[in-house]
Amino acid sequence: MSRKPFIAGNWKMNKTIAEGVALANELKDQIAGVDDVDVAVCPTFVALAAVGEAIKGSNIMLGGQNMFWKESGAWTSQISPQMLMDAGCKWVIVGHSETRGRFGTVDDELAGALSYFGDNDKTVNMKAKYAFASGLLPIIACGELLSERESGRTDDVITAQMKVCLDGFTKEQALKMVIAYEPVWAIGTGKVCDSDEADRVCGLIRGIVKNMYGEDVAEAVRIQYGGSVNDKNAAELLAKPNIDGALVGGAALKADAFATIIKAAQ
Ligand code: 13P
Repeated sequence: MSRKPFIAGNWKMNKTIAEGVALANELKDQIAGVDDVDVAVCPTFVALAAVGEAIKGSNIMLGGQNMFWKESGAWTSQISPQMLMDAGCKWVIVGHSETRGRFGTVDDELAGALSYFGDNDKTVNMKAKYAFASGLLPIIACGELLSERESGRTDDVITAQMKVCLDGFTKEQALKMVIAYEPVWAIGTGKVCDSDEADRVCGLIRGIVKNMYGEDVAEAVRIQYGGSVNDKNAAELLAKPNIDGALVGGAALKADAFATIIKAAQ
């Protein structure tokens, strides 16, 4: 079965509203007419509505970078899937390693080592389930630390993450989920994962999906690679049989580079 490639840009904590709209407009021009690749951009929460307006009617979809598993209430700083959809989102990233605290602590000169963000496999699963229940589609992220890779634990770590994160969806939901394999050591470091190894781990994830949801879901589910994807290395990664797209950070902040990655997926 052929899977439609899916390239998503995670803007992280970058771009003002005006800068985000300008980037979206540039991208819109550069990829006009591309209809064989799914494309999404995930701006900051404050830029979502304006970017959503800018890309209305285009081939670019909108995604949130995170969400909470409640519709509303006294949850200071949190955003619900209903709010993301109200801003025009179709997608939401859940379980990015930057929200899982997988980067450990931040060392601050005055305060010392501060831990930040608290997602774990269970909360990622709750977020994905609530996203589905609300009508939003999750991009579920996983990935191993450098120390886990170096001690030969990559497959165990990914398997453990996936078993909990993907638990309990209906088959219909599982068919629509997107999984992003993002080795933590490759994120923002310029150290892209070797394409054969990225393909191998994406294949491992497909096998886990097969065990949980059956062959047809495993064949249909799209698995993205993320971590230092750029306009130079994208084609090689995207040519691999188990890599169905990319979750792009830094290179998604420039329309030229991101458009090149999208075209490499065609
Ligand atoms: P970079 O492409 O900047 O390495 O970031 C990857 C990422 O974390 C996307 O979610």
